[in-house]
Amino acid sequence: MNADERGWAVAGLCVVALGCAPLPARDEQGPLAGAGDAARGRAVFVAREGGHCVLCHAAPGVAVAGDVGPALGGIGSRLTPAQIRFRVVDITRVNPDAVMPAFHRTEGLSRVAAQHAGRPVLSAQQVEDVVAYLATLR
Ligand code: HEC
Repeated sequence: MNADERGWAVAGLCVVALGCAPLPARDEQGPLAGAGDAARGRAVFVAREGGHCVLCHAAPGVAVAGDVGPALGGIGSRLTPAQIRFRVVDITRVNPDAVMPAFHRTEGLSRVAAQHAGRPVLSAQQVEDVVAYLATLR
């Protein structure tokens, strides 16, 4: 086996045995904090202070929700946790014109009230929790 073949063999083993991709896709983001908790994430999803994701997104088992954004039922089958995280942190990285706020970005924002300057809308742990919750929507 030459070096090239060995590289592919290792990448193949990595995918098959460990479920890891050899190269991260450009729309993925790794964990920002410790493991998320889906129950806490659901609370973030519906809470008026914090996420208030239900203002724009329907989800299974959530009674009252808006429809500005896509319904998120099945999102856990369509996107990986890393892809969901990438979008929650800063949706403008997938769609510069998106009306959804960037939930974990503190730079390059306009019209931020002084008391919120430098602070993301959701903490790193809250992002992990909401990602864990959305990953359960299959
Ligand atoms: C002001 C409305 C609004 C709020 C609040 C909002 N979103 Fe969104 N969201 C959108 C829209 C609109 C899109 C579609 C983005 C686009 O245009 O590409 C979207 C897209 C997404 C996507 C990608 C969906 C897909 O199918 O690719 C995820 C995941 C998501 N939102 C999660 C959240 C979470 C979690 C919260 C709360 C922390 C939240 N959103 C709050 C409007 C919103």
